[in-house]
Amino acid sequence: MRTEVAVIGAGPAGLLLSHLLARAGIDSVVVETRSQEYVASRIRAGILEHAAVDLLTSAGLGDRLHAEGHEHRGVYLQWPEERHHLDFLDLTGRSVHVYGQTEVQKDLVAAHQGPVVYEVTDTRLHDVHTDQPHLTFVDRDGVHQRLDATVIAGCDGSFGPSRAAVPEPARRVFERTYPYSWLGILADVAPSTDELIYAWHPDGFALHSMRSPTVSRLYLQVPNGTDPARWSDQQTWDELAKRLGHGQDGWTLTPGPITDKSVLPMRSFVQTPMRYGNLFLAGDAAHIVPPTGAKGLNLAIADVALLARALTAQLREHTTALIDAYSETALRRVWRCTHFSWWMTTMLHASDDPFEAELQLSQLRWVTSSTAGATGLAENYAGLPLAV
Ligand code: FAD
Ligand code: DHB
Repeated sequence: MRTEVAVIGAGPAGLLLSHLLARAGIDSVVVETRSQEYVASRIRAGILEHAAVDLLTSAGLGDRLHAEGHEHRGVYLQWPEERHHLDFLDLTGRSVHVYGQTEVQKDLVAAHQGPVVYEVTDTRLHDVHTDQPHLTFVDRDGVHQRLDATVIAGCDGSFGPSRAAVPEPARRVFERTYPYSWLGILADVAPSTDELIYAWHPDGFALHSMRSPTVSRLYLQVPNGTDPARWSDQQTWDELAKRLGHGQDGWTLTPGPITDKSVLPMRSFVQTPMRYGNLFLAGDAAHIVPPTGAKGLNLAIADVALLARALTAQLREHTTALIDAYSETALRRVWRCTHFSWWMTTMLHASDDPFEAELQLSQLRWVTSSTAGATGLAENYAGLPLAV
């Protein structure tokens, strides 16, 4: 098999890249280890930045997003006895949309036209630093396949083989782990809030998010290594109610049937450069952020928007300035989002250190009382314009 762009991974980064390339008349083949159903059912991110909404809309992927997603003007920040709304639209002229990654994935699958080879095993990258890069893999019938391409796009998330195809001397890794995780639940109950609540509490962070008018998504800070099965439904709702301020100024949290419960570890990770020869990394393959601030999916979308534009210039217009600048340009946004996610995470998660708690509360008071502080958070959360 031969194609122009061999894409590894059919998550949001891989499928969106392939879709954008197809719109520019560029052929690609996507290979994916999992089944289409498995990829579409993974419950992950829920918030799209302003620029991600614009990009998906301009790529013809906005119909359901605008019909079924919900535009939010901002978020609430809260701590015991206080809740403040930050209005991103007033502060920056930009908003966000609540629209689950599962829905983005469904829209991508429905719109996608090129070949996607699901359920492959043993994906290997070869000769990525030459002008004859290729992949080998075994298809689901057990047949060994070779896919030759002009370039390879590594969109294979945090466990794929692409990032390790950049050899040691060229590759730099930056990493930070955090001493806590999130217990996430999905519940068949109407959200108890119109917009997301990010809550600081001495017993740990809590977040009230949502997927639709009838489905809520909530998170609790828990110690690393927590077994979700050890948290009963009643205990989970009680802890959420306490941390989210049930009873404060008459606000109540309505519990409901929990349909999914899982624990997510948190880490920051960046691998540079995002290009090695004819291999380009995009999305979680190159970087991971802790979820506070909802940047993971948005960053994957920003990477591929940039990469699709740069590959189009290279393969169709025969100009290489954009592709040569891809890694540096993408990494500017990556580091901005890495900082923002780290800042939101460390501002909102409880530790045993009373000094740190006072600094966190001071920071929260400043962010919610100063237009400069609020605008900084709003600008980063609603997201910077895409560099395309
Ligand atoms: P992925 O979605 O991981 O897609 C990569 C694809 O590559 C996968 O389908 C994988 O099966 C495939 N692949 C892997 N190895 C191979 C191989 N050898 N050959 C072929 N294919 C391969 N972000 C937020 O903003 N908010 C959240 O609440 C949030 N929650 C999350 C919860 C979890 C459990 C996880 C893991 C992530 C979460 N994220 C969240 C992050 C967000 O989901 C990711 O940033 C986003 O999925 C990145 O998209 P991607 O396409 O780069 O990677
Ligand atoms: C969601 C996840 C996040 O990490 C976040 O900051 C906001 C919302 C969500 O899953 O809805």
